[in-house]
Amino acid sequence: MIGVFDSGIGGLALLSHIRAQLPDTPILYLADQAYAPYGDLTHDRVVERSRVISQWLQAQGCTLVVVACNTATALAIEALRTFCAIPIVGVEPGIKPAALQSLSQRIGILATENTVASTRYLLLLERFLPDVEILSQGCAGLADAIEQQSEDLDQRLLRYCQPLIDWGVDQIVLGCTHYPLVKERIALLVGPQVTIVDTSGAIALEVKRRYPQLLTGPHGDTSIALYTTGSAVRFDSSVRAYPRLAWLQDLASTELTLPALAKL
Ligand code: DGL
Repeated sequence: MIGVFDSGIGGLALLSHIRAQLPDTPILYLADQAYAPYGDLTHDRVVERSRVISQWLQAQGCTLVVVACNTATALAIEALRTFCAIPIVGVEPGIKPAALQSLSQRIGILATENTVASTRYLLLLERFLPDVEILSQGCAGLADAIEQQSEDLDQRLLRYCQPLIDWGVDQIVLGCTHYPLVKERIALLVGPQVTIVDTSGAIALEVKRRYPQLLTGPHGDTSIALYTTGSAVRFDSSVRAYPRLAWLQDLASTELTLPALAKL
């Protein structure tokens, strides 16, 4: 079984790609909505939440954990790999494909403020500078606005994309797993001269590459189970709001009240 987690529904976009690659593999998904957004948490709290969740997923029988969250990957993946005995696959903004595709040699990245301030992210940038110029845009509140389908979502998207457009980028990298849920809206706002880079498909291929050797448990179980540490009603309504997640709409989520996940 594969365990996948995020602060909320963002990781479900990645889960869709993983499911397409591994249609017969059971998946356990946890949305840590009681602690969202991770973009606002302290470094230590993100590490702690990631550790508690990964250990819970492992205790449920997962043999691989996907950190379907750029913020948790940036702040916690190294610590997680010391805590957990099973393989951990993280996500990373697709700067490499953007750099290869860019004609203007100017790339914009949208991510949480925690991600763009992280050491892991800054080290990633260093691998591509100075061959390309990169403008990092921390998007305070955007993941939350996507979760809640805020009325001002398009205004927020424009506010964060406009500086990138004005600066002359021809690639915008989605550096938060919530943002692919509004990829088409971003594309409409920025126009056809800008390519939106989303690495979910590539990450799903990496999960497939890492998983087959780890198959355990009874054959024939192809279930997907969705859990939230927050409100199942809110989770289900967020899922229903996005056509990309339509295939998950019949799966009601379960509120998780395990003591191990009680507020720290
Ligand atoms: N989906 C997340 C990410 O990829 C988390 C966003 C948040 O909770 O602030 O960064």
